[in-house]
Amino acid sequence: MAYTKGFTLWFTGLSGSGKSTLADEISRRLNDRGIGHEVLDGDVVRTNLSKGLGFSREDRDTNIRRIGFVAELLTRNEVPVITAAISPYRAVREEVRHKIGKARFIEVFVDAGLDELVRRDVKGLYAKALHGEIKNFTGVSDPYEAPESPEIRIDTEIQTVTESADVVWEYLAQHGFITIEEPAAV
Ligand code: ADX
Repeated sequence: MAYTKGFTLWFTGLSGSGKSTLADEISRRLNDRGIGHEVLDGDVVRTNLSKGLGFSREDRDTNIRRIGFVAELLTRNEVPVITAAISPYRAVREEVRHKIGKARFIEVFVDAGLDELVRRDVKGLYAKALHGEIKNFTGVSDPYEAPESPEIRIDTEIQTVTESADVVWEYLAQHGFITIEEPAAV
């Protein structure tokens, strides 16, 4: 049996750092154990809940407040939430932490150096940003305020997806967010 209580696992980091990949892996592990939850992925949120918003500071903060609002509703009803948006500004991340409550908000800094992200360039956006074809691109021509004391920091230049997910999973188990009772051996 698996038990859980509401929490928000808030992934933050530059585009292409691995937030969605890690969110998907944690989601898969929760599904495997029959633990209901929701994933709020930045790209998906921007096609519906935040459709029409751009990338000015104001729009990004609005986007993050919306994600935080939904995350808070779910968390308080004991539904685990995983979010994966760049969320570049510290102040609004702290605002969301405060709304959800420090005890249930887990900030995960998904870190990777800009050189590595430019090399990966999964979506081809860094090349465009570096050529000035996309303005205000986070990490290139727009700020990213790294968390100062995240609950978890992942270095995706060093850690594999499995290793990273293991770190997050252990944190959840150790802090009592998930309790897994393996079936008794027969
Ligand atoms: S956030 O800043 O508001 O948290 P969010 O995670 O929703 O950003 O969206 C980021 C995604 O939008 C990126 O992964 C990238 O695919 C796309 N994108 C398009 N323009 C930009 C930009 N100027 N800066 C960052 N990401 C951008």
